Amino acid sequence: MGVEMVDGDGLANEPIIAYYEDRARGGVGLIITETCAMDYPNGANSRHQLGMSSDSFIPSMTELTSRVHAHGAKIAVQLAHHGKVSRVDKKEGRDILVPSLTDWHGSYSMLADTTAEELGWMAAVNGDGGGKLRAMTTDDILETTDKFAEAARRARDAGFDGVEIHASHGYLISAFLSKQWNTRDDEYGGSIEQRSRFLVEVIKAMRASVNDEIPIWCRLDAKEYLTPEGIEFADARITAKLAQEAGAAAIHLSAYGDSSSASAFTLGTLPHTEAKHKQLSAQLKADLDIPIIGVGRINPETAEQMLADENADLIAMGRQILADPELANKLREGRPEDIRPCINCYVCVASPFFDRRVHCAVNPALGNETELANADRDKAATAKRVVIVGGGPAGMEAARVAASRGHDVTLFEASKQLGGALRFAALVYEPNARLLAWLTRQMDTLGVDVRLNTPATPQAIQALSPDDVIVAIGGAREASTIPGADLKHVVDGDDLRKVLTGSGDGDAKKVPLAGRLAATAGRRLGLTGDADRLAKLTKIYMPLGKEVTIVGGGLVGIEIAEFLVDRGRTVTVIDPGPNMAPEMAHPRRWRVLTDLRDHGTTLINGATVTTIDAERVHYRLGDEEADAANSVLADSVNSVLADSVIIATGLIGNPTLDSWMTVAGIETTVVGDASGIGYIEGAMHDGFHAGLSLG
Ligand SMILES: Cc1cc2nc3c(=O)[nH]c(=O)nc-3n(C[C@H](O)[C@H](O)[C@H](O)COP(=O)(O)O)c2cc1C
Ligand code: SF4
Repeated sequence: MGVEMVDGDGLANEPIIAYYEDRARGGVGLIITETCAMDYPNGANSRHQLGMSSDSFIPSMTELTSRVHAHGAKIAVQLAHHGKVSRVDKKEGRDILVPSLTDWHGSYSMLADTTAEELGWMAAVNGDGGGKLRAMTTDDILETTDKFAEAARRARDAGFDGVEIHASHGYLISAFLSKQWNTRDDEYGGSIEQRSRFLVEVIKAMRASVNDEIPIWCRLDAKEYLTPEGIEFADARITAKLAQEAGAAAIHLSAYGDSSSASAFTLGTLPHTEAKHKQLSAQLKADLDIPIIGVGRINPETAEQMLADENADLIAMGRQILADPELANKLREGRPEDIRPCINCYVCVASPFFDRRVHCAVNPALGNETELANADRDKAATAKRVVIVGGGPAGMEAARVAASRGHDVTLFEASKQLGGALRFAALVYEPNARLLAWLTRQMDTLGVDVRLNTPATPQAIQALSPDDVIVAIGGAREASTIPGADLKHVVDGDDLRKVLTGSGDGDAKKVPLAGRLAATAGRRLGLTGDADRLAKLTKIYMPLGKEVTIVGGGLVGIEIAEFLVDRGRTVTVIDPGPNMAPEMAHPRRWRVLTDLRDHGTTLINGATVTTIDAERVHYRLGDEEADAANSVLADSVNSVLADSVIIATGLIGNPTLDSWMTVAGIETTVVGDASGIGYIEGAMHDGFHAGLSLG
């Protein structure tokens, strides 16, 4: 995975070596590096990626491979020319090599759901320094093939255990494989066999240059989604066979799609669906004699199944190992439940779009391994007595880090369950439930003294004589001032959360009695303690009408919309801003908004709700442009029918915070939403650093 840690010269530096070393220490069998530009900076998509264009790259790469080898792992380099995605060539005014010049450049359907700020960042990265697309001549192809071969020889000399040719994701070689991007009429275009010729020649040239001392294999696209003449699986099968005949040692089967489409990225490159490419990998495995590496949101339990079912021979994991570099060791030690789960939020992969260093919502050490790789495992010089107030994600993460560093931690939680805002987030988006389960388990494993149903009074805190107090009491919600917000069928996110997650229904008066009874019944059965089972229960019963309008299309409003659509509701979301869910990482936002629209959800931007009455929600459109962009039916302009309304606005930092600045004479550290809304990422990072700051 491209992590954008290199300084701008293509050389492996200490941060990126520490990042790989941390994964090697974590027990992975084989690391395949990020895309390394074989002709750096030509054909590179970032100045901050690895390069291998001359022998001067060998010493730093040798340092990288030896540091990885020291932990018993193997390491292969992924060599690429980025073709049409060579952002560095564009910016620096060089020719951008492509198989052919074509008329179609993508659907650009992502534009509508990308914020102006993000578009600005992307434009800055793609900054036009005059680089123009140029169809490769035969000489260009031969020269590029030689450069691939030379880069492979350098990889061998630097101690790499193998080379993966990046022949997917729209980069140069995969563009040759695609009928959409390759319209050549010479021997490198036409049939799939001819389109595969460049790849075949690269494999052969590389094998010769490394003298077959290390294996050479390639990453291929099983399919190119939402691209008119894109790669089909039938093509991929032929290419894979040709690659095998040319001596490829394995096929790493990924997928790709129109990179300007709001939907294709999460269908192909980083699939939203678990193990999405599993069946294709199984079919390819049946075709070939060489091993197949399966990839694409494969979690450990699915990985085992895929291996058992012979869907793949090896499993590649990307984000799972960004989220937890120790994943492999934890599996080996038989404790899969200790693996910090990836929550499929796409925060990590949003960064490379803007040419910024990668970071992870749940693993604050990612991108700063030099300082933080072992920080949550190293023991503190002096063990302290620590009180944490609040058992949401920030409080639990602070408790986890503190306890794991040897501090004596007591955590007060006023409600009867751990989780705070994460409990509701877990209900509306399943991957979050895994994080909740993991954090909760860590409290147990690390011996945190968790006191549920226990308000943290000054006396209770004082009684423990703590050295430090960390306050993680979560955000608050301002009451809505919209006329009609007090009507019976209008609830706010808190009301809904309280009823559905069982975090107290006493003051959630507006949810109908039947709903409260159902939730109570659920709790009695023990269902609300488990987000997954509760999610299933709400598919059978939900205390909401058929037509639901959500006021506020931020992250919370959109996740509630997703949850309700999944439960058969017709949903309208109204938001005053220009984009829905600007807080979500854009690939996830693209996916969710596409899915919502596909399910008939009406998304109205640039609109302010003016009143709510018994039947309708009335709103004012901000300006004509927004009006034209909205798909509002003529007869319902400025109002929508709603038999339930959810107010998902008004999240703020905690106004009671002043009284928490010093508790029982002790200075406190405030973390998570209490100090300003930061959602899961903010909570996890805050909690982590608060845990570390104890010493
Ligand atoms: C931050 C990030 C950077 C990536 N960069 C690359 C890359 O350099 N080369 C590549 O082949 N795939 C890249 N990918 C795709 C991954 O290799 C992998 O195929 C994809 O994330 C799906 O697998 P996963 O669900 O296990 O993460 C990247 C993914 C992420 C999250
Ligand atoms: S940022 Fe999100 S998607 Fe990426 S690895 Fe971390 S949890 Fe997973």
